[in-house]
Amino acid sequence: MHYKTLFFSNRIDSVGFLSGVFVNQVAEESREKVWKMFDQISPKYDLVNHLLSFGIDKYWRRQLIHHLPKGEDVRLLDLATGTGDQLITIVKNAKQVNTALGLDMSLEMIRRGQRKIIDKPYAHQITLMEGDATAINLLEESVECVTMSFGIRNVTDVDKCLEECFRVLTPCGRVMILEFSLPRNRIIRGLHLFYLRHVLPNLAGWISRNRKAYQYLNNTVESFPYGEAFCDKIKKAGFYRVKSYPLTFGIATLYVGEKLPCGTDL
Ligand SMILES: C[S@@+](CC[C@H](N)C(=O)[O-])C[C@H]1O[C@@H](n2cnc3c(N)ncnc32)[C@H](O)[C@@H]1O
Repeated sequence: MHYKTLFFSNRIDSVGFLSGVFVNQVAEESREKVWKMFDQISPKYDLVNHLLSFGIDKYWRRQLIHHLPKGEDVRLLDLATGTGDQLITIVKNAKQVNTALGLDMSLEMIRRGQRKIIDKPYAHQITLMEGDATAINLLEESVECVTMSFGIRNVTDVDKCLEECFRVLTPCGRVMILEFSLPRNRIIRGLHLFYLRHVLPNLAGWISRNRKAYQYLNNTVESFPYGEAFCDKIKKAGFYRVKSYPLTFGIATLYVGEKLPCGTDL
C-alpha cells in the first residue's frame, strides 16, 4: 500500500476512532458491537454485496462518476469506505480524480481494501485509513468531492456527518451519498421488503455465518429517511441544489449536493 502524505493535511495522523451506528435507539454499549460487526463480516462483505444485489451494486457505484466535479486534479474523500469498492470504481474510471482518501472505522474492512489495491496501477492514488465520518480529521476546504456509499445509515450522528462533509469541502465542492431506499411502487416495495426481511438475512447470514449482522443492517434500511426527507437533511447541513436520483426502482438512491451553487451540470 502506498501511503502518501497528501493534500489531506497533517491532521490525519491521529484519526478519532469509532462511534457506532446510526439508529438513535442503539444504546452506548451495543454500538461497539456494530463496529465489531463490520470487522466480523469483512471476509465475506464483498461477496455478499455482489451476490445478493445480483451485481447491481457495481452499476450503482458507477452512477456517481456522472456527477463528479469537472476539472482537473479533483481531491476526493470517501467516507465509510469499507473495502474501498466505491473509491476504486471512481479512481479507475474518472480521470479527473487524482488523489483519493478512504476513511472507515473498521480496520478489518480497510485491510481488505488495502489488499485489493496494493498491486494495482492506481494504488499510488489511493490511501485507506482508519477514520470517523462524524469527526473527519481534515482541515476545512480540503477536498473537492466527498462520497459515501451505504455508510450514512451506519453512523451515530447523521447530521454531524453531513456537517463534516460540508466543512471539508471546498466552495463548489460536491457531496455524493449513495444509500438504500425503498421503492415507491407498492408492489415492487412489497416484493423488495420480502426480500429484505426474509431472503437476504438468511442467505447473507449463511454465507457470512453472521445472520444477526445482516438482519440488523436490513432493519436500518427500513428505518432510514430517504427521498425528500433525506434531501432536507442535506440542505440543513448547508448544501445547495440538492437532488436525489432513485436507482433500480428506488432500491437505492444517489443524493448530490453542492457547497455553493456552481455550474449547471448537476
Ligand atoms: C455497509 S458498509 C459500506 C462500505 C462501502 N462504502 C461500500 O460501499 O461497500 C458501511 C461501513 O461504514 C463504516 N462505518 C460505520 N460508522 C462509521 C463512521 N462513523 N465513520 C466511518 N466509517 C463508519 C463501517 O465500518 C462499514 O465499513
